[in-house]
Amino acid sequence: MSDLLHLEVSPLGERSISRSISKEFLSAFSARHPEALIVSRDLATDPIPHLDGETLMAGRIPEAERSPTTQLKFELRQELAREVNAAKHILISTPMWNFSVPSVLKAWIDQILITGFTHVTGKVTIIVSQGGSYAEGAPRAGWDWETGYLRQVFSSIGATDTEIILSEFGLAGVVPAMADFVDRKNESISAAKAAAAIRGGV
Ligand SMILES: Cc1cc2nc3c(=O)[nH]c(=O)nc-3n(C[C@H](O)[C@H](O)[C@H](O)COP(=O)(O)O)c2cc1C
Repeated sequence: MSDLLHLEVSPLGERSISRSISKEFLSAFSARHPEALIVSRDLATDPIPHLDGETLMAGRIPEAERSPTTQLKFELRQELAREVNAAKHILISTPMWNFSVPSVLKAWIDQILITGFTHVTGKVTIIVSQGGSYAEGAPRAGWDWETGYLRQVFSSIGATDTEIILSEFGLAGVVPAMADFVDRKNESISAAKAAAAIRGGV
């Protein structure tokens, strides 16, 4: 059993907004649970392989007949799903890419969702950093295929306590057309950091 399964997704390292928000969660979590066992996976630096045919078919072949490569792929999938089952709290920190999740996160999701095997018993916290805003009234309201999707993924494997912490306008100050939104960006990041610290400190 781990106290926290922590996944990072953004490839931007120190410049990442989502990582800066998850840091607040992690420092509050570590202060609250100094002895915590934290399992971390950085999908940007150590991506999970896509779910391929060999891995999918492995479960249908008796272990003795699997090649060493097939067996390794099978075991990785089992290990990833077990990490989910064993976590008291799952923290995912990710940007929005092209209205949804970056493909490294989708690859992880495809690996861990094993019908009848994967089951979340603890809390789930998802930190999402978006370049713009998809809130009601925004020109692209309804274009967010990430937050609802992630909530549904975890709901499908039993999660009943999922919190999404959203920061918006990440591209303000980066894209000239969004220069007017820099204050909104800073407010949104501060609010997300505060929410992350509260959630991590419970
Ligand atoms: C490849 C790519 C695709 C992106 N697609 C979107 C998008 O569809 N919608 C959006 O609001 N922002 C989009 N963005 C902007 C990021 O979501 C935004 O900059 C976010 O703050 C990045 O988080 P990070 O700093 O943690 O990496 C995209 C950025 C990249 C690099």
